[in-house]
Amino acid sequence: MLVHRLRDEAIAGARRVRCQYSDDIKFLRSWASRPLTTGAVSPSGRFLARAMAAVVDPAWPGMVVELGPGTGAVTAALIERGLPPERLIAIEYNPDFAEHIRARFPGLHVTVGDAYQLTDALKHAGVSEVAAVVSSLPLFTRPPLQRRRLLDQAMAALPPGRPFIQFSYALVPPVPAEPSRWTLDVGGWIVRNLPPARVWTYRKA
Ligand SMILES: C[S@@+](CC[C@H](N)C(=O)[O-])C[C@H]1O[C@@H](n2cnc3c(N)ncnc32)[C@H](O)[C@@H]1O
Repeated sequence: MLVHRLRDEAIAGARRVRCQYSDDIKFLRSWASRPLTTGAVSPSGRFLARAMAAVVDPAWPGMVVELGPGTGAVTAALIERGLPPERLIAIEYNPDFAEHIRARFPGLHVTVGDAYQLTDALKHAGVSEVAAVVSSLPLFTRPPLQRRRLLDQAMAALPPGRPFIQFSYALVPPVPAEPSRWTLDVGGWIVRNLPPARVWTYRKA
């Protein structure tokens, strides 16, 4: 009946708002205690998360590796895109966030650790085939050489043409293109995100 449907939709809407609110609080707390590691005061909005997930084709074989999942904004968009949680491995530094996404997405593989040690983390998790790497790490808090080393490790794990996807709020790329090693595409500004952000896609040459 219409009344029941309206009531169920209202309850579902209220639950969504409550979850979003509680994720916002978790994020703010994490930012207050570790601003450079958390890198943002609130989770990415759904338009940014969807733009990142849109680069991934769930039909590609292998695992999708997410770096810095936080409270799971991008994780949710990847799952919404059709990727089963079992094909996703999330590497998160903050143990509270890791525990949160473990409970939020049953079946998701969660590793607590340093995503900048990507090769070791993948080896330790037994991942041999990687379809894409999706990163929300606050790369600009690290020196350029360390960012480049991370990209090097991702490219070593990816087949040619497959993406390393990164968002940032900056005007310049977190790592420049190196045509002999990787290409770089940048999307348009996502203004329905606070602050506005862009998605940078690196592909192994
Ligand atoms: C800007 S937040 C993005 C969170 C989430 N993906 C989103 O878009 O809302 C950055 C995330 O990266 C995590 N992080 C920072 N440094 C890390 C590292 N070295 N290894 C793994 N995760 C890290 C932070 O704890 C945080 O969850």
